[in-house]
Amino acid sequence: MLSFINEIDDPIVQRDILDLNRRILLFRQGQLNEESFRSLRLARGVYGQRQPGVQMIRIKVPMGLLTFDQFRAILDVCDEYSTGKYHLTTRQDIQIHHVKLEDSPELWAKLEASKVTLREACGNTVRNVTASPLAGLDPQEPFNVLPWAEALWRFFLRNPVCQEMGRKFKVSFSSSDEDTGLGVMHDLGVLPAVNDAGELGFKLLVAGGLGAQPAPAEVLHEWVPTDELIPITEAILRVFDRDGERAKRQKARFKFLYQTMGRDALLKEIARERAMPSGAFPDVTHAEHIPSSPATVEEIPAPVGHETWRKANVLAQKQEGHFAVGIRVPLGDETTARTRDLLDALAPYTSETIRVTQSQDLLLPDVVEANLPVVHRILRDLGWDALGFQSGVDVTSCPGTDTCNLAISNSTHLSTVLEHTLEEEFPHLMFDRSFNIKISGCMNACGQHSIASFGLHGSSMRREGATMPAMQILVGGGRRANGEWSFGKKILKLPTKHVPAALRTVLIDFEQHQLPHETFADYFLRVGDRYHYNLLQQHVEGTSEDLYVDWGSETAFKPQIGVGECAGVVIDLVSTLLLEAREKLDLGLEAMQEGRWGHAIYHAYAAQIAGAKALLVKEGEKTNTYADILASFDRVFVATGAFSPEAGSFTAQVLSYLGGANTQTFAEAYVQTAQAFLDELDRHTSTAKAS
Ligand code: HEM
Ligand code: SF4
Repeated sequence: MLSFINEIDDPIVQRDILDLNRRILLFRQGQLNEESFRSLRLARGVYGQRQPGVQMIRIKVPMGLLTFDQFRAILDVCDEYSTGKYHLTTRQDIQIHHVKLEDSPELWAKLEASKVTLREACGNTVRNVTASPLAGLDPQEPFNVLPWAEALWRFFLRNPVCQEMGRKFKVSFSSSDEDTGLGVMHDLGVLPAVNDAGELGFKLLVAGGLGAQPAPAEVLHEWVPTDELIPITEAILRVFDRDGERAKRQKARFKFLYQTMGRDALLKEIARERAMPSGAFPDVTHAEHIPSSPATVEEIPAPVGHETWRKANVLAQKQEGHFAVGIRVPLGDETTARTRDLLDALAPYTSETIRVTQSQDLLLPDVVEANLPVVHRILRDLGWDALGFQSGVDVTSCPGTDTCNLAISNSTHLSTVLEHTLEEEFPHLMFDRSFNIKISGCMNACGQHSIASFGLHGSSMRREGATMPAMQILVGGGRRANGEWSFGKKILKLPTKHVPAALRTVLIDFEQHQLPHETFADYFLRVGDRYHYNLLQQHVEGTSEDLYVDWGSETAFKPQIGVGECAGVVIDLVSTLLLEAREKLDLGLEAMQEGRWGHAIYHAYAAQIAGAKALLVKEGEKTNTYADILASFDRVFVATGAFSPEAGSFTAQVLSYLGGANTQTFAEAYVQTAQAFLDELDRHTSTAKAS
């Protein structure tokens, strides 16, 4: 027994960590192939990184909420197993790098002791559920969405419905109809809504996403009662699991399925799945956020620049007399030592909770007004008082070439250069939250460049026989005055060293021609993309030597794209698939023993499909979606008489769960059918081998 495991009281978590440890050993001994191991470790937050032989660990921070003690636990593992530096992400996770694979189970165990998990931080699962950093505090919000966000992420953690989908699924909660949680770019965006009768509910947006083919989310429901949220989400996930593309990774996100099936068909499928829920759903009750009192209230004279700091970084909460303090973290990168000092100094004056924001910053909620000066002084003395929280000067950037395999040109150094340019030349942007800059190292858009006023993604261009680091410029993304979202339009590609000058040109033009109170997104729509294409032409040319050297580098640029961590690829060996089918069935049998009938049924469902896929792969048949597998199996094996399911067809057999009931009797019968089917598959494959 590994000693660190004893610190964990939850047997399910214990098993998870032991399982990761066991699989690492099997992998090292060559008994587990690389692709299977990769999909397992990704679903446990263990990623590869640009530097070989070490791992990036993604620590899940649901809704970005942390107590100081949880944050300290993260800092401790970061010191012990990583480099003492961490990164706040645009999805409110915390990432640490350069971790040895063998250390990951112990690291995970230490985090779990503080109720922090790695489970389903990556992989084809429901990823970290994010929320507006102001959820529960926002004066504009109709009610606090956090209890539902909490219930939703817990409900889907380890839930069989979403362990091996075709692709990841991202959910966000906004605090108000202003979509403060960026639902527009999520697979599912949840916004609080109150109907005419005064009942609490949610507006649901679906099928948004960024990446190479960005799509804004569309309204699925203007209002559903709060207790429908989790059942509808379960139904959507089941539809995605069954009909979503699995083979072509670049077409596998939910947005592509939605684009093919459309809203009406999705609603019909949801209704069909809703008729057979997996079991009881959590009962969530409405509760408003109540700030806890700080241990100390200490009134001191306001530090120099206090009013400016309040204007640029402090937001009034809906709880009277309480304020949320924004703390800018440039690039989302920080050190453990500085953070520990900060938490220790702030602890007496705060509620000892903190939030990670989608802008890669931190937010300190619940500061009472009398403590604002002392909090300001602490931030200033410890060097955390940069002005302009979530403002025009607060540039968002993915880690890019620093650590990511897929990055093309540098995003982080450029981000720092742009922040300095703005702070010096456009300081008024520190108070402007309607203009923003976001940078990604490649078109995957982890830095959310598509929703920025001025967005950039890494690229390269050939000039005079050599390759130059470049940035694709997108302009005009963001929220318009009427509340609608625009995604940025691709304008042109520039040498990356010309980006600061291009930004200057765009801003000067905007400030000269903007109508009173016109947002940048509205201005862009008025003048059009051709206008910006012409405006930026002056920055395209150039062949000076410096243009061939990327930001932060001293040598000539060499594009070096590694292989991305592909959460979707599992090697399609027939025996591996059959083994996986058995593993799924075992999980189903275990769920039966524990009386989880709905889970047992879903595992048995997935087991049959995995088994059928094994045979189809052997025949070279298409297995892009679960729905394809059902149809192909009937065509290739049932119509030819090789298999004769009692239900008449394999599809009818597998989908019989939809007409079933969530009872022991039905689950027993369904699991038995699955078991008999897998036995028959084994007989079939061994006969085929023998002949
Ligand atoms: C190991 C490094 C990473 C890889 C290989 C990776 C890969 C990807 C890919 C392929 C996409 C496009 C999704 C699609 O269209 O299907 C994407 C989107 C995204 N990623 Fe990453 N990512 C990495 C790190 C990060 C980091 C560090 C962050 C946060 C700072 C992040 C946040 C996001 C966000 C916000 C999106 C856009 C939203 C969406 O459509 O899903 N990713 N990532
Ligand atoms: S945008 Fe590209 S470079 Fe940046 S983290 Fe995502 S995959 Fe890596």
